[in-house]
Amino acid sequence: VTGLVVAMDGPSGSGKSSASRGVARALGLRYLDTGAMYRAITWWVLRQGIALDDPAAIAARAAEPVLTMGTDPDAPSVAVDGTDVAGPIRTAEVTAAVSAVSAVPEVRRRLVAEQREIIGTGGIVVEGRDIGTVVAPGAPVKIYLTASADARAARRTAELTGTTVEAQKAAMARRDTLDSTRKTDPLAMADDAVELDTTPLNLDEVIAEVLRVIKEKV
Ligand code: C5P
Repeated sequence: VTGLVVAMDGPSGSGKSSASRGVARALGLRYLDTGAMYRAITWWVLRQGIALDDPAAIAARAAEPVLTMGTDPDAPSVAVDGTDVAGPIRTAEVTAAVSAVSAVPEVRRRLVAEQREIIGTGGIVVEGRDIGTVVAPGAPVKIYLTASADARAARRTAELTGTTVEAQKAAMARRDTLDSTRKTDPLAMADDAVELDTTPLNLDEVIAEVLRVIKEKV
C-alpha cells in the first residue's frame, strides 16, 4: 500500500473524517483533511475582514495565507502563517462561511495544487468533496460516503454544543446545496467510486467496509 491513494468524498456529516483517519491508521498511511484547508482559508478571509459576498476580493488575496498541513492520522494539524488554527476553523462562523469561500475558483486552484503536492507519490487517505473527481482522478480506490439527512444531522449535533438536530439539518442542507451546485469542482460522486451508505453502520463497521473495498481493488 506504499503508493496507495484512497479518495474519500461525500457530504458533511457522512462520517468521512473519522472513517478516513481510521482507515489511514489501520494501513499506516498518511491522512489529509482537505476540508480543513478550505476552512483555514475561510478563517483567514474572515479575520482580514474581506467580505464574503465579494468573490473578486477573495480571489485577489487567495494566495496570501501560508498553510501548513500535518498528515499524521493520530494528530492531524493545520496552521495558517504558523498559527495553529485547528480549533478556530471548527466554529459555527467559519462553517457558515466556508461554502462561499470554497466556491471561488482561485481558492480551489490554489488548494488543489497544494493537495496534489501533499499527495505526492501516495501512501495517503484524502478526504473532501472533489478528491475522486478533480484532485486525484487516478486514485485506485474511491469511496463516496452518504448517510440519511437525519443520521448526518444527529451525528453532527452530538459533536457540537448549543445546537439542535433540526438546526443542524437545515444548516447542513444549505451547505450541501451550495457545495454541489457551485460551478467549479462541485461535490459529486466519481463514476468509478464505490458508494457506501453509512446510515445503519457504526464507525468500526464503516472502516471495515472501506478496508474490504481497498483489499478488493489493490
Ligand atoms: O469537510 P468539511 O465539512 O470540513 O468541509 C468544509 C467545506 O469545505 C465544505 O462544506 C466545502 O465547501 C469545502 N470543501 C470543498 N472541497 C473539498 C473539501 C471541502 O469545497 N475537497
